[in-house]
Amino acid sequence: MDENQYPLLDTMPELVRLDEQDQEVNSFTRYPAQLTDFPTSLMPPTFHPYPGAIVLDFGCGPGGWCRAVAAEYPQIQVIGVDSSQQYIEYAANQAIAHGPTNVSFVVGDFLNPLLAYKADLIHARFASWFISNYEATVKNWLPLLNTGGTLLLTEGEAQHTNSASFNRVLGLMLKTMVKASGPDSGGITLRLRSILHRLQFHNIGEVAHVINFSAGIPGREKFVENFAHGVGAVKPHLLPLLAENEIDILFEQMLKDLYENSQFMGLWYLLSVFGVK
Ligand SMILES: C[S@@+](CC[C@H](N)C(=O)[O-])C[C@H]1O[C@@H](n2cnc3c(N)ncnc32)[C@H](O)[C@@H]1O
Repeated sequence: MDENQYPLLDTMPELVRLDEQDQEVNSFTRYPAQLTDFPTSLMPPTFHPYPGAIVLDFGCGPGGWCRAVAAEYPQIQVIGVDSSQQYIEYAANQAIAHGPTNVSFVVGDFLNPLLAYKADLIHARFASWFISNYEATVKNWLPLLNTGGTLLLTEGEAQHTNSASFNRVLGLMLKTMVKASGPDSGGITLRLRSILHRLQFHNIGEVAHVINFSAGIPGREKFVENFAHGVGAVKPHLLPLLAENEIDILFEQMLKDLYENSQFMGLWYLLSVFGVK
């Protein structure tokens, strides 16, 4: 785990930011329960929520996805796994304080999972930045998945905007992340489906989600705020790439574009891929 140095990891501000981002992202990444209609679900249609079904979430962070899924399916058991003791304690305390009761959290390393569970669904979201070989890592999870169980992976690509300063900051961030965690931290969505195919999953499905945070889009404020906090925390880590005063000017322009430019346009694309073992 040492070589995967996510620069923001394990700090309280990052925990709070992730927790907020989690709620925003949960509300965007939902699946129609039927092809044409609501209600939506956080689960793909290949998941069978029989009583006692077990769901494992690798790299669960502050646990919002786990709690939302557990609340959606009170008859199943959801287990969140994360290497951060701090995140796990936070996730568990949230569940104790607000429910649901069919969720638990354990500290663990998804690169070397030593769990005694057999799951009916394994989920991982935004894990690629921590994994230098994504396919090998996912392959390691397969003994924990029941035959007929579903693997559900969601990853995003860098946001796409019409702001030159925003795009420059993203480019620098990506460089830092790729350096810290390896080439799988960029462009992973292109390969998700072929990974499931090579691992002999069947009934493979893909759902793309897009979060539009352009100026004037209702409800963009929370997302923009969350993003501004995220890049703000990365700022010091860009120092090896750019002089301090250049970074300050770049960030000032980026925030101006994000908050004040009525012509600002931005999209964040996520891809969920699922398949049956
Ligand atoms: C970007 S966060 C995503 C959190 C959550 N899945 C979400 O969608 O909001 C990635 C999480 O992976 C965890 N993580 C990183 N490396 C890990 C490892 N080897 N084993 C378990 N968790 C890990 C981090 O602690 C962090 O909580």
